[in-house]
Amino acid sequence: MAKLRLCLALAVAGLASRAADGLTGPATAAPTEVASAAVVTALVQTATIAGNPEQARNPRTSPADVAAGAKTFRSHCSPCHGLNAEGGRGPNLASGAFFHGSSDLELLNNISDGIPGTEMPGLFYSPDRVWQIVAYIRSLNAANGPKPGANAARGAELLRDKACLQCHRVNGQGGRLGPDLSEIGKSRSIEHLRQALVDPNADVRQRYWVVSYTDASGDKVEGFLMNEDTYSVQFINMTGRLQSIAKSGLKDYKVEKISKMPSFKDSLTTEEVEHLVAYLASLRPKGPKGGTQ
Ligand code: HEC
Ligand code: HEC
Repeated sequence: MAKLRLCLALAVAGLASRAADGLTGPATAAPTEVASAAVVTALVQTATIAGNPEQARNPRTSPADVAAGAKTFRSHCSPCHGLNAEGGRGPNLASGAFFHGSSDLELLNNISDGIPGTEMPGLFYSPDRVWQIVAYIRSLNAANGPKPGANAARGAELLRDKACLQCHRVNGQGGRLGPDLSEIGKSRSIEHLRQALVDPNADVRQRYWVVSYTDASGDKVEGFLMNEDTYSVQFINMTGRLQSIAKSGLKDYKVEKISKMPSFKDSLTTEEVEHLVAYLASLRPKGPKGGTQ
Protein backbone atom coordinates (compact mmCIF):
# COMPACT_ATOMS: atom_id res chain seq x y z
CA MET A 1 0.00 0.00 0.00
CA ALA A 2 2.68 2.49 0.96
CA LYS A 3 4.62 1.59 -2.18
CA LEU A 4 1.63 2.04 -4.45
CA ARG A 5 0.86 5.36 -2.85
CA LEU A 6 4.38 6.57 -3.39
CA CYS A 7 4.61 5.52 -7.03
CA LEU A 8 1.41 7.31 -7.77
CA ALA A 9 2.51 10.40 -5.86
CA LEU A 10 5.75 10.46 -7.86
CA ALA A 11 3.83 10.04 -11.08
CA VAL A 12 1.68 13.00 -10.14
CA ALA A 13 4.73 15.05 -9.20
CA GLY A 14 6.28 14.33 -12.60
CA LEU A 15 3.15 15.08 -14.57
CA ALA A 16 2.27 18.11 -12.50
CA SER A 17 5.71 19.58 -12.94
CA ARG A 18 5.49 19.08 -16.68
CA ALA A 19 2.06 20.63 -16.69
CA ALA A 20 3.46 23.56 -14.71
CA ASP A 21 6.27 23.95 -17.25
CA GLY A 22 3.61 24.29 -19.87
CA LEU A 23 2.20 27.25 -17.99
CA THR A 24 5.42 29.04 -17.23
CA GLY A 25 8.03 28.10 -19.80
CA PRO A 26 7.77 27.28 -23.46
CA ALA A 27 4.51 25.38 -23.92
CA THR A 28 5.35 21.69 -23.64
CA ALA A 29 2.55 19.89 -21.79
CA ALA A 30 -0.01 18.33 -24.06
CA PRO A 31 -3.58 18.67 -22.81
CA THR A 32 -3.80 14.88 -22.50
CA GLU A 33 -0.97 14.90 -19.97
CA VAL A 34 -2.77 17.44 -17.87
CA ALA A 35 -5.90 15.33 -18.09
CA SER A 36 -4.07 12.16 -17.09
CA ALA A 37 -2.50 14.03 -14.16
CA ALA A 38 -6.04 14.69 -12.94
CA VAL A 39 -6.90 11.00 -13.27
CA VAL A 40 -3.79 9.96 -11.34
CA THR A 41 -4.54 12.56 -8.66
CA ALA A 42 -7.97 11.03 -8.20
CA LEU A 43 -6.36 7.59 -7.85
CA VAL A 44 -3.88 8.81 -5.27
CA GLN A 45 -6.60 10.37 -3.23
CA THR A 46 -8.60 7.16 -3.03
CA ALA A 47 -5.47 5.11 -2.42
CA THR A 48 -4.13 7.36 0.30
CA ILE A 49 -7.11 8.59 2.18
CA ALA A 50 -9.31 5.58 1.93
CA GLY A 51 -12.75 6.49 0.66
CA ASN A 52 -12.57 10.09 1.80
CA PRO A 53 -11.03 12.17 -0.96
CA GLU A 54 -12.27 15.51 0.35
CA GLN A 55 -9.81 15.15 3.21
CA ALA A 56 -7.08 15.90 0.66
CA ARG A 57 -7.89 19.49 1.55
CA ASN A 58 -5.99 20.36 4.71
CA PRO A 59 -8.50 20.09 7.60
CA ARG A 60 -6.09 21.67 10.14
CA THR A 61 -5.44 25.30 9.17
CA SER A 62 -6.48 27.38 12.21
CA PRO A 63 -3.89 29.69 13.80
CA ALA A 64 -3.61 27.16 16.65
CA ASP A 65 -2.83 24.42 14.09
CA VAL A 66 -0.17 26.60 12.44
CA ALA A 67 1.40 27.23 15.87
CA ALA A 68 1.33 23.52 16.73
CA GLY A 69 2.84 22.71 13.31
CA ALA A 70 5.62 25.25 13.90
CA LYS A 71 6.39 23.57 17.23
CA THR A 72 6.66 20.10 15.71
CA PHE A 73 8.74 21.54 12.89
CA ARG A 74 11.24 23.20 15.25
CA SER A 75 11.82 20.01 17.22
CA HIS A 76 11.82 17.44 14.40
CA CYS A 77 12.52 19.08 11.06
CA SER A 78 14.75 22.09 11.87
CA PRO A 79 17.93 20.06 12.32
CA CYS A 80 17.83 19.38 8.57
CA HIS A 81 15.56 22.09 7.14
CA GLY A 82 16.67 25.07 9.26
CA LEU A 83 14.95 26.83 12.15
CA ASN A 84 12.57 28.74 9.86
CA ALA A 85 12.57 26.21 7.03
CA GLU A 86 15.19 28.28 5.19
CA GLY A 87 17.08 25.09 4.36
CA GLY A 88 20.28 23.39 5.51
CA ARG A 89 21.05 19.75 4.92
CA GLY A 90 17.49 19.52 3.56
CA PRO A 91 16.01 22.01 1.08
CA ASN A 92 14.30 25.32 1.79
CA LEU A 93 10.60 24.63 2.41
CA ALA A 94 9.60 28.28 2.87
CA SER A 95 9.78 29.49 -0.72
CA GLY A 96 6.67 27.67 -1.90
CA ALA A 97 8.49 25.84 -4.72
CA PHE A 98 8.88 22.10 -4.16
CA PHE A 99 10.77 19.52 -6.17
CA HIS A 100 8.85 16.44 -5.06
CA GLY A 101 5.36 17.86 -5.40
CA SER A 102 3.67 21.01 -4.15
CA SER A 103 0.04 20.07 -3.56
CA ASP A 104 -1.13 19.73 0.04
CA LEU A 105 -1.56 15.99 -0.51
CA GLU A 106 1.95 15.54 -1.88
CA LEU A 107 3.38 17.44 1.09
CA LEU A 108 1.35 15.22 3.42
CA ASN A 109 2.65 12.05 1.76
CA ASN A 110 6.27 13.22 1.50
CA ILE A 111 6.32 14.16 5.17
CA SER A 112 4.49 11.03 6.37
CA ASP A 113 6.32 8.48 4.22
CA GLY A 114 9.64 10.22 3.62
CA ILE A 115 11.29 10.26 0.18
CA PRO A 116 12.95 6.91 -0.57
CA GLY A 117 16.51 7.04 -1.82
CA THR A 118 17.08 10.43 -0.15
CA GLU A 119 17.91 11.60 3.36
CA MET A 120 14.30 12.63 3.94
CA PRO A 121 13.06 10.16 6.56
CA GLY A 122 9.51 8.88 7.02
CA LEU A 123 8.36 10.36 10.30
CA PHE A 124 5.23 8.36 11.11
CA TYR A 125 3.04 11.01 12.72
CA SER A 126 -0.72 10.94 12.84
CA PRO A 127 -2.22 12.59 9.73
CA ASP A 128 -3.58 15.42 11.89
CA ARG A 129 -0.15 16.26 13.16
CA VAL A 130 1.31 16.23 9.64
CA TRP A 131 -1.53 18.43 8.37
CA GLN A 132 -0.55 20.97 11.05
CA ILE A 133 3.01 20.94 9.73
CA VAL A 134 1.66 21.43 6.19
CA ALA A 135 -0.37 24.42 7.47
CA TYR A 136 2.79 25.87 9.01
CA ILE A 137 4.78 25.39 5.76
CA ARG A 138 1.95 27.08 3.82
CA SER A 139 2.02 30.07 6.18
CA LEU A 140 5.70 30.52 5.32
CA ASN A 141 5.03 30.08 1.61
CA ALA A 142 2.49 32.91 1.68
CA ALA A 143 5.12 35.21 3.21
CA ASN A 144 8.13 34.11 1.12
CA GLY A 145 6.75 32.97 -2.23
CA PRO A 146 6.50 35.02 -5.38
CA LYS A 147 4.46 38.22 -4.73
CA PRO A 148 0.76 37.97 -5.63
CA GLY A 149 0.39 39.26 -9.18
CA ALA A 150 3.90 38.20 -10.20
CA ASN A 151 3.66 36.50 -13.58
CA ALA A 152 6.31 33.92 -14.47
CA ALA A 153 5.39 33.95 -18.19
CA ARG A 154 5.96 37.71 -18.28
CA GLY A 155 9.27 37.07 -16.48
CA ALA A 156 10.33 34.67 -19.24
CA GLU A 157 9.69 37.43 -21.82
CA LEU A 158 11.67 39.94 -19.77
CA LEU A 159 14.60 37.52 -19.57
CA ARG A 160 14.77 37.67 -23.37
CA ASP A 161 13.99 41.39 -23.71
CA LYS A 162 16.49 42.56 -21.08
CA ALA A 163 19.42 40.71 -22.66
CA CYS A 164 19.95 38.42 -19.67
CA LEU A 165 20.73 35.63 -22.16
CA GLN A 166 23.76 37.58 -23.34
CA CYS A 167 25.46 36.28 -20.18
CA HIS A 168 23.24 33.45 -18.90
CA ARG A 169 22.11 30.14 -20.32
CA VAL A 170 18.59 28.81 -19.75
CA ASN A 171 17.80 25.33 -21.09
CA GLY A 172 20.72 25.32 -23.50
CA GLN A 173 20.31 28.84 -24.90
CA GLY A 174 22.40 31.92 -24.17
CA GLY A 175 25.87 33.08 -23.16
CA ARG A 176 28.40 31.65 -20.74
CA LEU A 177 29.82 34.63 -18.85
CA GLY A 178 27.39 34.22 -15.93
CA PRO A 179 26.03 31.07 -14.29
CA ASP A 180 23.60 28.74 -16.06
CA LEU A 181 20.15 29.57 -14.67
CA SER A 182 18.28 26.48 -15.92
CA GLU A 183 17.81 25.11 -12.37
CA ILE A 184 18.40 28.24 -10.29
CA GLY A 185 14.99 28.00 -8.55
CA LYS A 186 15.96 24.74 -6.89
CA SER A 187 18.77 26.15 -4.82
CA ARG A 188 18.03 29.84 -4.32
CA SER A 189 15.44 31.62 -2.17
CA ILE A 190 13.06 34.24 -3.57
CA GLU A 191 14.89 36.87 -1.53
CA HIS A 192 18.27 35.86 -2.97
CA LEU A 193 16.90 36.02 -6.54
CA ARG A 194 15.44 39.47 -5.93
CA GLN A 195 18.75 40.68 -4.50
CA ALA A 196 20.72 39.17 -7.41
CA LEU A 197 18.82 41.50 -9.77
CA VAL A 198 18.86 44.77 -7.85
CA ASP A 199 22.10 44.44 -5.87
CA PRO A 200 24.39 41.93 -7.60
CA ASN A 201 27.43 42.86 -5.50
CA ALA A 202 25.72 41.85 -2.24
CA ASP A 203 26.46 38.14 -2.52
CA VAL A 204 28.83 36.90 -5.21
CA ARG A 205 29.87 33.26 -5.08
CA GLN A 206 33.62 32.65 -5.21
CA ARG A 207 33.58 31.24 -8.74
CA TYR A 208 32.66 34.77 -9.94
CA TRP A 209 35.04 36.92 -7.88
CA VAL A 210 36.85 39.27 -10.21
CA VAL A 211 40.63 39.26 -10.69
CA SER A 212 42.12 42.33 -12.35
CA TYR A 213 45.55 43.72 -13.13
CA THR A 214 47.45 45.83 -15.61
CA ASP A 215 49.84 43.79 -17.72
CA ALA A 216 53.34 44.73 -18.90
CA SER A 217 52.04 46.48 -22.02
CA GLY A 218 49.65 48.59 -19.92
CA ASP A 219 46.43 46.73 -20.83
CA LYS A 220 43.84 46.12 -18.16
CA VAL A 221 42.94 42.42 -17.82
CA GLU A 222 39.98 40.94 -15.99
CA GLY A 223 38.80 37.41 -15.21
CA PHE A 224 37.08 35.14 -12.71
CA LEU A 225 39.39 33.80 -10.00
CA MET A 226 40.01 30.06 -10.01
CA ASN A 227 43.06 29.75 -7.80
CA GLU A 228 45.93 31.83 -6.47
CA ASP A 229 49.04 31.37 -4.40
CA THR A 230 51.90 33.66 -3.49
CA TYR A 231 53.47 33.51 -6.94
CA SER A 232 50.78 32.78 -9.48
CA VAL A 233 47.10 33.14 -10.27
CA GLN A 234 44.74 31.04 -12.40
CA PHE A 235 41.58 32.62 -13.76
CA ILE A 236 38.98 32.32 -16.50
CA ASN A 237 39.31 35.32 -18.76
CA MET A 238 36.31 37.18 -20.17
CA THR A 239 36.34 35.09 -23.33
CA GLY A 240 36.02 31.92 -21.22
CA ARG A 241 39.63 30.68 -21.49
CA LEU A 242 41.63 29.43 -18.52
CA GLN A 243 44.78 31.49 -17.97
CA SER A 244 47.65 31.00 -15.54
CA ILE A 245 50.19 33.75 -14.96
CA ALA A 246 53.02 34.73 -12.61
CA LYS A 247 52.11 37.56 -10.26
CA SER A 248 55.57 39.19 -10.33
CA GLY A 249 55.57 42.29 -12.50
CA LEU A 250 51.77 42.73 -12.54
CA LYS A 251 50.56 46.18 -11.69
CA ASP A 252 47.42 46.88 -9.62
CA TYR A 253 46.76 43.18 -9.08
CA LYS A 254 43.58 42.65 -7.05
CA VAL A 255 40.76 40.18 -6.36
CA GLU A 256 37.36 41.73 -5.60
CA LYS A 257 34.12 40.13 -4.43
CA ILE A 258 32.15 42.13 -6.96
CA SER A 259 29.78 41.04 -9.70
CA LYS A 260 30.27 41.43 -13.45
CA MET A 261 26.48 41.60 -13.64
CA PRO A 262 25.03 45.10 -13.97
CA SER A 263 22.43 46.10 -11.35
CA PHE A 264 18.92 46.23 -12.79
CA LYS A 265 17.67 48.42 -9.92
CA ASP A 266 17.00 51.37 -12.21
CA SER A 267 16.26 49.58 -15.48
CA LEU A 268 13.50 47.27 -14.20
CA THR A 269 10.31 48.41 -12.46
CA THR A 270 9.38 46.79 -9.13
CA GLU A 271 6.71 44.75 -10.93
CA GLU A 272 9.20 43.60 -13.59
CA VAL A 273 11.61 42.44 -10.88
CA GLU A 274 8.79 40.36 -9.32
CA HIS A 275 7.84 38.81 -12.71
CA LEU A 276 11.47 37.84 -13.30
CA VAL A 277 11.83 36.46 -9.77
CA ALA A 278 8.68 34.34 -10.23
CA TYR A 279 10.12 32.97 -13.49
CA LEU A 280 13.58 32.28 -12.04
CA ALA A 281 11.99 30.54 -9.01
CA SER A 282 10.11 28.27 -11.42
CA LEU A 283 13.33 27.13 -13.14
CA ARG A 284 14.14 23.78 -11.57
CA PRO A 285 14.87 20.23 -12.62
CA LYS A 286 11.92 18.27 -13.94
CA GLY A 287 10.41 15.96 -11.32
CA PRO A 288 11.64 12.39 -10.83
CA LYS A 289 9.51 11.27 -13.79
CA GLY A 290 10.41 14.32 -15.83
CA GLY A 291 13.50 12.87 -17.42
CA THR A 292 16.42 14.98 -16.19
CA GLN A 293 16.79 13.47 -12.70
C1 HEC B 1 17.68 13.85 8.44
C2 HEC B 1 17.36 15.09 7.79
C3 HEC B 1 15.90 15.43 7.57
C4 HEC B 1 14.88 15.51 8.50
C5 HEC B 1 14.93 15.24 9.99
C6 HEC B 1 13.70 15.97 7.77
N1 HEC B 1 14.02 16.14 6.45
FE1 HEC B 1 12.73 16.71 4.99
N2 HEC B 1 14.18 16.42 3.58
C7 HEC B 1 15.49 16.13 3.86
C8 HEC B 1 16.24 16.07 2.61
C9 HEC B 1 17.73 15.82 2.45
C10 HEC B 1 15.32 16.34 1.59
C11 HEC B 1 15.61 16.39 0.08
C12 HEC B 1 15.40 15.06 -0.57
C13 HEC B 1 15.99 15.09 -1.97
O1 HEC B 1 15.33 15.59 -2.89
O2 HEC B 1 17.12 14.61 -2.13
C14 HEC B 1 14.02 16.55 2.24
C15 HEC B 1 12.85 16.83 1.56
C16 HEC B 1 11.68 17.22 2.17
C17 HEC B 1 10.49 17.64 1.49
C18 HEC B 1 10.31 17.70 -0.02
C19 HEC B 1 10.85 19.02 -0.50
C20 HEC B 1 10.58 19.26 -1.98
O3 HEC B 1 11.29 20.15 -2.53
O4 HEC B 1 9.71 18.63 -2.56
C21 HEC B 1 9.58 18.02 2.43
C22 HEC B 1 8.19 18.58 2.19
C23 HEC B 1 10.20 17.81 3.72
N3 HEC B 1 11.47 17.32 3.52
C24 HEC B 1 9.59 18.09 4.93
C25 HEC B 1 10.11 17.70 6.15
C26 HEC B 1 9.42 17.86 7.41
C27 HEC B 1 8.08 18.58 7.58
C28 HEC B 1 10.20 17.31 8.37
C29 HEC B 1 9.90 17.16 9.84
C30 HEC B 1 8.65 16.50 10.19
C31 HEC B 1 11.41 16.83 7.71
N4 HEC B 1 11.32 17.09 6.38
C32 HEC B 1 12.48 16.23 8.36
C33 HEC B 1 16.05 15.90 5.10
C34 HEC B 1 15.34 15.83 6.29
C1 HEC C 1 27.01 41.26 -18.38
C2 HEC C 1 26.62 39.90 -18.04
C3 HEC C 1 25.31 39.70 -17.28
C4 HEC C 1 24.05 40.14 -17.60
C5 HEC C 1 23.63 41.02 -18.77
C6 HEC C 1 23.17 39.58 -16.61
N1 HEC C 1 23.88 38.84 -15.71
FE1 HEC C 1 23.12 37.80 -14.14
N2 HEC C 1 25.02 37.34 -13.51
C7 HEC C 1 26.17 37.60 -14.23
C8 HEC C 1 27.32 37.08 -13.48
C9 HEC C 1 28.78 37.17 -13.90
C10 HEC C 1 26.79 36.51 -12.30
C11 HEC C 1 27.60 35.83 -11.16
C12 HEC C 1 28.03 36.83 -10.13
C13 HEC C 1 26.89 37.23 -9.25
O1 HEC C 1 26.41 36.40 -8.45
O2 HEC C 1 26.41 38.37 -9.38
C14 HEC C 1 25.34 36.69 -12.36
C15 HEC C 1 24.45 36.23 -11.40
C16 HEC C 1 23.06 36.17 -11.56
C17 HEC C 1 22.15 35.52 -10.65
C18 HEC C 1 22.53 34.83 -9.34
C19 HEC C 1 22.95 33.43 -9.64
C20 HEC C 1 23.25 32.64 -8.39
O3 HEC C 1 23.99 31.65 -8.51
O4 HEC C 1 22.74 32.95 -7.32
C21 HEC C 1 20.89 35.66 -11.17
C22 HEC C 1 19.59 35.15 -10.57
C23 HEC C 1 21.02 36.42 -12.39
N3 HEC C 1 22.35 36.70 -12.59
C24 HEC C 1 19.97 36.77 -13.22
C25 HEC C 1 20.07 37.66 -14.28
C26 HEC C 1 18.95 38.22 -15.00
C27 HEC C 1 17.49 37.85 -14.74
C28 HEC C 1 19.45 39.09 -15.92
C29 HEC C 1 18.68 39.99 -16.86
C30 HEC C 1 17.70 40.89 -16.25
C31 HEC C 1 20.91 39.05 -15.80
N4 HEC C 1 21.24 38.18 -14.80
C32 HEC C 1 21.79 39.77 -16.61
C33 HEC C 1 26.26 38.25 -15.44
C34 HEC C 1 25.19 38.89 -16.07
